[in-house]
Amino acid sequence: MARGTLPRDLEGRHVVVSAGGTREPLDPVRYLGNRSSGKQGYALARTAVARGARVTLVAANTALADPAGADVVPVGTAAQLREAVLKAAGDADVVVMAAAVADFRPAAYAAAKIKKKDDEEPPPLALARNTDILAELSADRPRPGQLVVGFAAETDDVLAHGRAKLARKGCDLLVVNEVGENTAFGREDNEAVVLGADGSETAVPFGPKEALADTVWDLVAARLPGRAE
Ligand code: CTP
Ligand code: CA
Repeated sequence: MARGTLPRDLEGRHVVVSAGGTREPLDPVRYLGNRSSGKQGYALARTAVARGARVTLVAANTALADPAGADVVPVGTAAQLREAVLKAAGDADVVVMAAAVADFRPAAYAAAKIKKKDDEEPPPLALARNTDILAELSADRPRPGQLVVGFAAETDDVLAHGRAKLARKGCDLLVVNEVGENTAFGREDNEAVVLGADGSETAVPFGPKEALADTVWDLVAARLPGRAE
């Protein structure tokens, strides 16, 4: 849809978008992180505001300007992101999990900086699993009729991985990106396929992250219950 001709089809709706990448602390100076910039999530927040929604943007470690009109909740870890998303999801019409959430965190946090010792091998790094927020929300919707949207970055057989992930997570829509060395992360453009639990498959050609965001909102708006026709 061309910019400037956006429908106000999210008027009166509360949308929650998570963006960025979580950081799981190991000691006071180190963390396990990922390369997500948050740009896709911010594009989703901006376009949702433009389409009339009330927007809560849960932002994990991003370095981007707050989208005008969105309520931005900064978080660091996956546990903090989960808490903020679940809190905002209570009265949300849709939750979009665009954030890259760490699957694992260090099993133990060292309160003092971990020091190397010349005469010892480095210690192994034990990990613990984080809660899968998307699967949790999909299985137990905080509000009846709420829509849940996930993102997945895949390699190899992207569509097969995407279909399997959509079924496993139980969400309504899954935006699947193909990733390689130079794709998706931190870039301005994106190419994706949006898979629906209803079997739909919407290809989004290579283009600005706003265009992908608008396609996601088109698909969401068409699936929201209780729309005045
Ligand atoms: N996600 C989540 N909570 C987690 C991990 C992921 O909510 N602890 C969400 C992401 O925000 C994204 C979706 O799940 O919307 C898919 O993330 P992805 O990492 O592709 O899925 P995983 O099930 O973790 O699969 P993989 O083993 O491929 O990493
Ligand atoms: Ca993962």
